[in-house]
Amino acid sequence: MALSELPPALDEGGEPGAEMPMLRMPPPGPMSRAWLGRLQGVDAPWTDARRARRANLLGFDQPPIVIATAKGANVFDLDGNRFVDYAAAFGAALVGHGNTRVMRTLEMQLERTMFGLGDVYPTDAKIGLTERLARLFPEPGARVMFGLSGSDAIDAAMKTALLATGRPGILAFEGSYHGLGTGPLATLGLRPEFRLPFAPHLTPHVRFAPYPRAPRRDGTGGDSLDGALAAVDDACKTGEIGAVLVEPIQGRGGVVVPPEGFLAGVREICTRTGTLLVADEIWTGLGRSGALLRSVEDGAVPDLVCLGKGLGGGVPISACLGKGSVMDAWRTPKGRAVPREEQEEQPHGEAIHTSTYAGNPLACAAAIAMLDTIIGNKLVQRARDEGAAFRDALSAALGDGTRVTDVRGRGFMIGVEVEGGARRGLGLMHDLLQKGYLVLTGGRGDVLTLTPPLNIAKGLLDAFAETLAELARLREP
Ligand SMILES: Cc1ncc(COP(=O)(O)O)c(C=O)c1O
Repeated sequence: MALSELPPALDEGGEPGAEMPMLRMPPPGPMSRAWLGRLQGVDAPWTDARRARRANLLGFDQPPIVIATAKGANVFDLDGNRFVDYAAAFGAALVGHGNTRVMRTLEMQLERTMFGLGDVYPTDAKIGLTERLARLFPEPGARVMFGLSGSDAIDAAMKTALLATGRPGILAFEGSYHGLGTGPLATLGLRPEFRLPFAPHLTPHVRFAPYPRAPRRDGTGGDSLDGALAAVDDACKTGEIGAVLVEPIQGRGGVVVPPEGFLAGVREICTRTGTLLVADEIWTGLGRSGALLRSVEDGAVPDLVCLGKGLGGGVPISACLGKGSVMDAWRTPKGRAVPREEQEEQPHGEAIHTSTYAGNPLACAAAIAMLDTIIGNKLVQRARDEGAAFRDALSAALGDGTRVTDVRGRGFMIGVEVEGGARRGLGLMHDLLQKGYLVLTGGRGDVLTLTPPLNIAKGLLDAFAETLAELARLREP
């Protein structure tokens, strides 16, 4: 089937992209299944392996739908089923799908140029975005480095920290997720199975500290703030740690919100021990968690901030923003100097950190439109207020008999923790798909992670809470 033959986004009146689910058949329908069959023989085998493992766990196969089109908060599969999107492209669809301002800006930039020349000859789009991002940093004089993925941005931060401190050590946290490139992978604390097969390629200079949790809604399960900060302090006092790498709220770890004062406490330790604080705001940032930068909102101005996911509004781009004094290390690195002979082998001074598409004009133009849309439409405030209201509505709906142990998060980054482990979490993900809702799971599979577009219509949120409560009452382990 050619792309032009794909079914168009259905428009049945009402605000585009703000429609309730509408299933023509139980998903996945025959078109999705046929296309999926084609993928199975050629996709990297781990997708089949994961599906088989999940089928084993659940006791039934859970084949995916194949996405055809999307608009606003609605996603349509190849069979014409309409879903409401609480996964939003792993949280990246901050302003929904097919946002008009982003699309028009992309069209304009397509007419102008799709290529720049990276770090050699920049485009005006790249310059415009660099200025905007530098201004987003809470202190003047910030500098910006671009990448294509969140993983790239973390890589840039790790390299910067090494150049700036001369210390290879990184303190990361249990439960963390920073991307799967071999730089960031070394800092992944979520589950060892991500790291272990590749351990020989990963830096051995990473230590992990416990990431403290705020208590659940019933007051159970909270960690001591003092204990967590003591572990950070102990590591930083060794003098081996160049940077503490932290998610202000752990996303893939299961929307784990730390106790109040955690980030500010880590900031204080970093300042006292001369350690850099790197905030991974790839998930939390740009309004997702109800703040432009969650770290700053929580009282910790980081030395380096990583952004990604929603930044390019669907076009891959990420950025590492840093204090001017820290980024200066790219001019005058601290620590191991390049041996003189090697310097002389590179007489024309090439950029030592770049890539073909870094700062690509299409992505930069889209990112400018994204920032305009998020800030101009006050979506950060909307996420904070409507997200809190949605969390409250969920918490009220998911009461007795639902076996939901917690509803937590900030803004439109919400975790619903269920009893029954991954089996029940994945079971609910399946049940929700059958009702026309896309959600993901995090943590150990026992947390539904809800990250709808920041501009999702309120009516959709109310309906979702009721449906989830009904399903949670029915779903056995
Ligand atoms: C907090 C955080 N950091 C980094 C990443 C990696 O981003 P990417 O998948 O774009 O490499 C993710 C991805 O989910 C993330 O949630």
